[in-house]
Amino acid sequence: MSFPEQRPRRMRRSRAMRRLVAETRLHPADLILPVFVREGLSEPSPISSMPGVVQHSESSLLTAAEEARDLGLGGLMLFGIPATRDPQGSAGLDPEGILNRSIRAVKDRVGEDLVVMSDLCLDEFTDHGHCGVIDEDGEVDNDATLELYAEMGVVQAASGADVVAPSGMMDGQVAVIRQALDEAGHQHVPILAYAAKYASGFYGPFREAVDSQLSGDRKQYQLDAPNRTEALREVELDLAEGADMVMVKPASAYLDILSDAVSISDVPVSAYQVSGEYAMIEAAAANGWINRRTVVTESLIAIRRAGATNVLTYYAAEVAGWLREEMAGSRVTRATASHAPPAQDPIRPRTTAAPETFREPHDPSRTDAGFPPVS
Ligand code: PBG
Repeated sequence: MSFPEQRPRRMRRSRAMRRLVAETRLHPADLILPVFVREGLSEPSPISSMPGVVQHSESSLLTAAEEARDLGLGGLMLFGIPATRDPQGSAGLDPEGILNRSIRAVKDRVGEDLVVMSDLCLDEFTDHGHCGVIDEDGEVDNDATLELYAEMGVVQAASGADVVAPSGMMDGQVAVIRQALDEAGHQHVPILAYAAKYASGFYGPFREAVDSQLSGDRKQYQLDAPNRTEALREVELDLAEGADMVMVKPASAYLDILSDAVSISDVPVSAYQVSGEYAMIEAAAANGWINRRTVVTESLIAIRRAGATNVLTYYAAEVAGWLREEMAGSRVTRATASHAPPAQDPIRPRTTAAPETFREPHDPSRTDAGFPPVS
């Protein structure tokens, strides 16, 4: 049977029908918000290449964490920016350093309701900006770096991190961190491995966000853009070393890699919508060239559709707010008007309830999985 009997458009005619048959949805719990905390700040400081994203002070970080909790986000990924740096990145290993101190504070404040994850890497802490220590030849010394990662993982776990996330792409990093955690009694702390992390121009704005000292690039340790099979090898190795979750990064330009990773992984797969992906959407939207909300939503749906279990995105809190609005809006519609006129703009809910006034209603027929798709 084919046309005219077959008419796929039948299933797209109304917003309600599209919602019913959506194969992919966003939910606040799938979203992880990366946050930056900078030592010595008394107020949040804007990041010019990432409009709307800030370097947090230690106190504004806690406010952001509470907001993330109230929005029902899945978790936070913490990045620390120290006041002083050295060749070994010592501030990252110091239990009183900015990152470890912040892990403790955030855990205290919201730890029951949010998964608190920490970036396990030295690049924010070294004065040369590389993810590891440098040997006599000026190269990043893999095995010497592993020893520091092992120690850093233990300090982060002792500070209360629910998940540690090694992002340095050193060979063998997952295995040494796992062993160190286990020996220190942290056998319950999972590792989210940045397994397929590419040397990418899309990290540009992040360098400003963490005040990176890097000159040059990370091509000797991060994956090379042309390679797909090699990414799978990285994922396989991290799984064999005991990764509890694996990540693909960046997301949008690497959806093929994400899809491949999902097909071989027996653990959850995360994807990181990185700073440059954020900055491009913001820049185009600011020029009026794209509809910001439509594109943000579509970009995240695409990442989930490619198979990501969860997504790290600087949009996490804002999108969670939209999802709540959407849900509140569809409830109001249902209660008040069964023949309401079509919304002018299908991406906007017909009735917008301020997120602050929205309360999770007690409706046993709609469980936690009931957020409508957003487009
Ligand atoms: C390294 C790290 C980077 C990002 C996250 N962790 C930078 C890099 O590898 O160069 C980039 C994140 C982003 O661009 O949003 N600790």
